[in-house]
Amino acid sequence: MSEFALEVEKLVKVYAPRGKPAIRAVDGLSFSVPRGIIFGLLGPNGAGKSTLLRMLTTLTQPSEGSARVLGFDVVRKALEVRRRIASVIQETAAELFLSVRDNFLTYAKFHGLERTTALRRSAAVMETFQLTEEADRKVQDLSGGFRRRVQVAKVFLAETPVLFLDEYSTGMDAILKRQVMSLLRAETQKGRTIILTTQVLSEAEELCDDILILNKGKQVARGDLNTLKLLSQGVYEVAMTFDRLPEGIAADLQALVPLRYSVDQNTIEIAFKAEEARVLEMVSELARNRRVVHVEVRGASLEDIFVELMQGREAQ
Ligand SMILES: Nc1ncnc2c1ncn2[C@@H]1O[C@H](COP(=O)(O)OP(=O)(O)OP(=O)(O)O)[C@@H](O)[C@H]1O
Ligand SMILES: [Mg+2]
Repeated sequence: MSEFALEVEKLVKVYAPRGKPAIRAVDGLSFSVPRGIIFGLLGPNGAGKSTLLRMLTTLTQPSEGSARVLGFDVVRKALEVRRRIASVIQETAAELFLSVRDNFLTYAKFHGLERTTALRRSAAVMETFQLTEEADRKVQDLSGGFRRRVQVAKVFLAETPVLFLDEYSTGMDAILKRQVMSLLRAETQKGRTIILTTQVLSEAEELCDDILILNKGKQVARGDLNTLKLLSQGVYEVAMTFDRLPEGIAADLQALVPLRYSVDQNTIEIAFKAEEARVLEMVSELARNRRVVHVEVRGASLEDIFVELMQGREAQ
């Protein structure tokens, strides 16, 4: 079997709606993803993330170029690909007329699980996703958030080697989101590869081993978090807590021309793009004649990198 989960070469998807200009939703992407990692696709609305995932999961065909999942071409070997993947796409993909339990059992059967295993695993995922009480209800009668749970829960039933998740956490509460994050992590330890898209940058930051940032169908940046941080060339976040909030602090912060800042009770947070030495100077300027209880200086967050990269692209 191929050592790569994904191999994408010069992939293009053009949508040509009747009477409207054609859209190059994916515009010449080439990249590969090794097996056993969590790979994040990030980008603003309309960047082409879902379109890319739809091609990789065989739901739509590329206009040009090629893509392989575990070495199988998504067009010529679509069935081989489908057997080896599980996906949660943005549009609802649960069987609406079946009950929650039957959704799981049907899915498990499709993936070749024995009935006893299917029953045991279904019960377990229903428990994790707090769906036990909904087991006998038809999916079409559930709220949007619960339908989403059914979709996401399914991928933990079978052991397909590659998982695709398109904004899986939409509509989930914070506790469930945390749980799912650690479940996903555990899946990669079993050797599964996870390809996910997200708008929630802190989620990507926490979860993804490798990230590709897309804009207008093209690659903007690629790498693990540390590589991306280097790209951002010196964005620092400073958090300072004072014994009491100094008067006129907002004006002082603005005078430093930060990328952003916030004030919360006695704590200020501020992000600068500057040389390290200058950042330390700025911190001491803010601390002058004030009682500082706590100071923390961090490198860039993914959010800052993302914003900066997108602004850079707009200016070109
Ligand atoms: N079926 C379609 N027909 C025509 N255009 C489409 C179709 N699907 C997507 N597009 C266009 O392709 C571009 C990429 O859309 P896509 O849904 O892939 O973006 P996305 O990155 O997933 O965005 P979001 O973050 O909003 O989910 C957009 O300009 C969109 O309008
Ligand atoms: Mg999308």
